Amino acid sequence: MTNHKFLVVATSNPGKLKEMQVYLQDLGWELQLKPAELEIEETGETFIANACLKASEIAKATGEWSIADDSGLMVDALDGQPGIYSARYGSSDADRISRLLRELGSEQNRGAQFVCAIAIARPDGTIALQVEGICRGEILHSPRGTGGFGYDPIFYVPAQQQTFAEMTPDIKRLYSHRGQAFQSLLPQIDKIVK
Ligand code: IMP
Repeated sequence: MTNHKFLVVATSNPGKLKEMQVYLQDLGWELQLKPAELEIEETGETFIANACLKASEIAKATGEWSIADDSGLMVDALDGQPGIYSARYGSSDADRISRLLRELGSEQNRGAQFVCAIAIARPDGTIALQVEGICRGEILHSPRGTGGFGYDPIFYVPAQQQTFAEMTPDIKRLYSHRGQAFQSLLPQIDKIVK
């Protein structure tokens, strides 16, 4: 019996917890950060594989339902890189952005997409739900805007004529890969926990 809707978030990043809370707390879900000492290595080759791996391992280790996400930026002209290595592409956000701009150089094809995979695992580690969200955009030649995090200042969304870093959090949520993934997840989530 699980009337109490409780999920351990497979991240030690309080920012991610906060972002997930925005989507889930109105539905009555209580979220908690994973224990700091539980580190899961991201050995998967896709976003969804990594999200499933993290959710499953944290669920088994805590004996609770768990939710995990994995996300990153895929650049068309770089054959989808940095992809699942987005966080490991440099040592700081500024570093990662300048490496990406350097590698793209004067390439005309600036198409790119952010991808976000989310998985929910049962306490025994089996996967109850997995979804993916995508946001298409273009990589600018130089950063614009001060909001957000990561690659936001160089990711431009033509439909809004703004980079992610120029959008308010509400507008970013409307377009973003994480927003899209949660839009697929929310209608399904209450059906999985009986
Ligand atoms: P994760 O924590 O393994 O999912 O790493 C995702 C990495 O992809 C982050 O460190 C960022 O560099 C990048 N990333 C993911 N989502 C976003 C976003 O919404 N804006 C900017 N960068 C993002």
